[in-house]
Amino acid sequence: MPSNEAVVVTGSAGGLGAATVARFVAAGYTVYGLDRSTAALESQGNVHQIDVDVCSDTAVGEVFAEIAAHASVAGLVHCAGIADFGPSNPGHLISPETGEPLDNLETIERTLRINLLGSFIMVRHAAGAIARRTQVEDGSRGFIVLTSSGAAFDGKAGQSAYSASKSGVAGMTLPLARELSRFGIRVVTIAPGLFDTPILDKTPPLPRHVPFPPRMGDPGEFAALAHHVAENSYLNAEVIRIDGGIRGGFESTTPFVR
Ligand SMILES: NC(=O)c1ccc[n+]([C@@H]2O[C@H](COP(=O)([O-])OP(=O)(O)OC[C@H]3O[C@@H](n4cnc5c(N)ncnc54)[C@H](O)[C@@H]3O)[C@@H](O)[C@H]2O)c1
Repeated sequence: MPSNEAVVVTGSAGGLGAATVARFVAAGYTVYGLDRSTAALESQGNVHQIDVDVCSDTAVGEVFAEIAAHASVAGLVHCAGIADFGPSNPGHLISPETGEPLDNLETIERTLRINLLGSFIMVRHAAGAIARRTQVEDGSRGFIVLTSSGAAFDGKAGQSAYSASKSGVAGMTLPLARELSRFGIRVVTIAPGLFDTPILDKTPPLPRHVPFPPRMGDPGEFAALAHHVAENSYLNAEVIRIDGGIRGGFESTTPFVR
């Protein structure tokens, strides 16, 4: 059971982030929830909600300075991200009808900036705060959990920007774990399949064939895995899929509707 240890959870106003906040608070941590839309969220007890854009290096640096003045940061679970394509903006590079390059570079850039650059910004400030912890057992200072996606490995047509951003997150896992090992910081990435959260409202309907169980993931199941990573000090440098076994092209199970 942690004592006076803080965990920073980004995307705390979203599905996976909110469940992660609840899980870590229940486990006895002080939790700092970071999101750019925390207005509706209440800070109470050991939960502190802070409005910040994870792509603003300056703002994120200020937030960590503020947190470090009150608590010892032991971990980061970085859930903030976007899947900014939908029926009216399918994310293709060229028009499926005419073959003309589509005018969506701005969406591609935003996707890479928030999902990939935002991960770098969060990691550099979180790792800095964790590395400066002094009272640690066995040299173990803390953990960083990043969020990739099954789309990093099995992206559908029209998901190339999102898939690129999420395979970037998967790709940074091992070199970051190696870099941060000297500080006793572990880095693990979770790659969710389909979880029932608001992010799916923005994505085009996808075939939903999950071998077992044949349903979407519950955000609590993501949070349970993030908490396990925090507590299991031999887990490091790995990308863990949590997806009921869903893989691209899997057609032989019964489809279901959200
Ligand atoms: N839900 C799924 O099926 C699924 C599958 C694979 C991967 N993921 C990934 O999991 C993560 C969490 O997704 P979710 O399902 O909880 O989505 P969500 O939309 O419910 O939550 C995402 C949160 O991130 C916040 N956010 C976005 N950009 C931000 C920024 N620049 N600064 C601060 N906060 C920002 C949003 O305000 C939102 O509250 C995302 O990275 C997503 O790509 C989700």
